[in-house]
Amino acid sequence: MDGTRLWVDSRARYEIGLREEGATLARLGAHGQRCLDVGTGRRGLGARVAVTALGATEVLALDLHQASVEAARRALADLGDRVVVQRADATALPVGAGTQDLVVSLHTLHHVVDWRAAVVEYARVLRPGGQLAYAELTSRVLDDRWFRLVSRHPADRFTEDELLECLEGAGFDVPARRHRSRVGGRWLLGVATRR
Ligand SMILES: C[S@@+](CC[C@H](N)C(=O)[O-])C[C@H]1O[C@@H](n2cnc3c(N)ncnc32)[C@H](O)[C@@H]1O
Repeated sequence: MDGTRLWVDSRARYEIGLREEGATLARLGAHGQRCLDVGTGRRGLGARVAVTALGATEVLALDLHQASVEAARRALADLGDRVVVQRADATALPVGAGTQDLVVSLHTLHHVVDWRAAVVEYARVLRPGGQLAYAELTSRVLDDRWFRLVSRHPADRFTEDELLECLEGAGFDVPARRHRSRVGGRWLLGVATRR
């Protein structure tokens, strides 16, 4: 059984992402006009958050899976030409270095096999001062043996400290006032700034 798929595509997940995570990221100061939403999913959640709450005027929404790309295109149609959806891998983003003001990555890194390479790629595409707005689950949830029975994620996921260390190493500053750790380090939200 893959409970991950049921949850990821659910209306409940979408509402939490939009109302709780989007609002938190906005409160933490996430903002930027030219934006990538990496791992947009079937509902195009991060792209909608970026346009409605984070000041984005031009969003390229990306997903590895073609079916998600097509579903997201339909889901985001009301946002018109502010959003373009295309297939791409988080570890090889189809934009130039330093071209983006904002990267939105909602529950994507914990699905990417080489998540550290994706973090380096996020740093590459952001201009100095540009922001990464993230929401993540950590290995404290994902590597739980009961959770693994009903969900599917790559092995070897990150702890809170490992994610923060990787962000710092890739060229991001993550001030404590812009990072939230919830449910005992299981659910992370934050805004990292490209140095
Ligand atoms: C848990 S879903 C999150 C979807 C949405 N961002 C949200 O928060 O509801 C993770 C998404 O990342 C995508 N994904 C996984 N690996 C990826 C990769 N290497 N590059 C781009 N997208 C990827 C999956 O297809 C999926 O749509």
